[in-house]
Amino acid sequence: MISHLLSTYTSFKKDSFEEIAVRAYLDVVEEHSLALALSYILLSSQSKSENGLVSALSLFGTIGVKFLQTGAILKMFGSENQEASENAYDRANPMSKYEIEQSLKKHLSETEYNAKIKEPIKVLGSASVKTVTLGELKSVKRVALMLKRDNVENQIRTNLDLAKRFIERLKHYSVRASNPLLMPLVEAIEEQIFSEIDFVLEVEKYKQAKAIVDQIQERSEWKNLGWTVRVPSIVDEIQPQENLFAVEAVEGVTAKSFFKDPSVPNEVKEKVGEIIVKTSLRMLFHQGVFDPERHLGNWLIDLKKKEVAFIDPGQLMNFGASKKPWAWDPRLTLARFLYAVQERNVEEILYYSKLMGKEKGIKINEGEVKNRLAQIFSSTDLSSEDLQIKILEELYRSGIQFNHLFTFGALKGLMVLSGSGYVSQERFKEIMKEEVKSLFVKKSPLVMGVLAKEFGKKLSMKSKKIEKEKPKSRTRSKAR
Ligand SMILES: Nc1ncnc2c1ncn2[C@@H]1O[C@H](COP(=O)(O)OP(=O)(O)O)[C@@H](O)[C@H]1O
Ligand SMILES: [Mg+2]
Repeated sequence: MISHLLSTYTSFKKDSFEEIAVRAYLDVVEEHSLALALSYILLSSQSKSENGLVSALSLFGTIGVKFLQTGAILKMFGSENQEASENAYDRANPMSKYEIEQSLKKHLSETEYNAKIKEPIKVLGSASVKTVTLGELKSVKRVALMLKRDNVENQIRTNLDLAKRFIERLKHYSVRASNPLLMPLVEAIEEQIFSEIDFVLEVEKYKQAKAIVDQIQERSEWKNLGWTVRVPSIVDEIQPQENLFAVEAVEGVTAKSFFKDPSVPNEVKEKVGEIIVKTSLRMLFHQGVFDPERHLGNWLIDLKKKEVAFIDPGQLMNFGASKKPWAWDPRLTLARFLYAVQERNVEEILYYSKLMGKEKGIKINEGEVKNRLAQIFSSTDLSSEDLQIKILEELYRSGIQFNHLFTFGALKGLMVLSGSGYVSQERFKEIMKEEVKSLFVKKSPLVMGVLAKEFGKKLSMKSKKIEKEKPKSRTRSKAR
């Protein structure tokens, strides 16, 4: 019956990922939501701009948006759905004016509300979790009030559960749809989401990010050119709560609009692109703190003030960095893995993937994995990003239980950065090299000096030997 409806009333191609996704969704959805879900999908499929996969995943609320966003980066939905899934960054529905008003009244006293909230309520934006409203306080003229819907946690729990059943169902329909990254992605979202929606925690992350970005700004090469990168301050006058906190409102447009704006000169775009990429990479390679969500919606650019604002550090993660120059740390594993991919060195890819694993001593069929990796390398037309993705898929398929900090944290985050087009692919590689090199230089001069010198060139046999012995002895206590 549902198959019939879909084939009669939608233009989904039979057995396309789009159609399978919709069918799988309708299979797992609760009975009482089925009619609603079906009519939504049928309706949205009438509009040419809608994509069935995106419609189906949108029904998973915040989880669906996150799934689409990361899935797009990891190119998990096939080329025919790529563009639609990329646009998922603008997907979230903001709360309605009524909901905003009710929520503010609930969380602030009436006098506070009247004194603090500027009318009419103006929504500044909404991307995945928050609805951001402009307010006015006595001390700060323009504040961004970050609001969260009540009951989000429960919705998220229900949707996570639904998403897992959905993925199992996808596998049932099609082998092609059983991308080995699907389930790990949902698990990674599950690990992350509850800390991301905890606003009291986010306030801490805002403060941490601010301190780090200020340091980067202070030592930056763009400071002298009059450019500033900074994180807006938390406004303490409104006590941070589970569902509400306040940040100084900044002017400017999202990087997405900025880079699309034809009136902005190209050299300015290049400058801003460099600032964004270098700031993000220095956070990781100099400070050991990384935010994997540095996409185009999480920067606000003010051309007049020459200011780049870093917003939304909700996923900020500590990368277990060690300041000790002789200690191995996860950033080195990450850098060596990326280098091995670039060098197409199958042995080292496997070696460093195992270091990125959750458990030690996982048994995998190495011969088989090596063969399949070699096969991937033999298709010459893959971009370096596509190559990384294919390799990750293969490694997940082989059974390596990756620590999500690496895969859905750092590797995904690097793909977000390189894939957002802040700088050219070539330039991105150069900047990566510079920043990784500076990390190597800071590490033990004896061992890392060799690596730093060799980085970017082919490694000599000697340095390979040294560096292979290194991680074994160091990672046990430091890597995670
Ligand atoms: N401090 C701010 N000043 C002005 N606008 C902001 C500020 N913070 C967020 N916004 C707007 O709200 C949108 C969503 O904010 P963000 O913190 O990224 O929320 P989400 O967690 O939903 O992604 C941003 O893209 C931006 O347009
Ligand atoms: Mg955001």
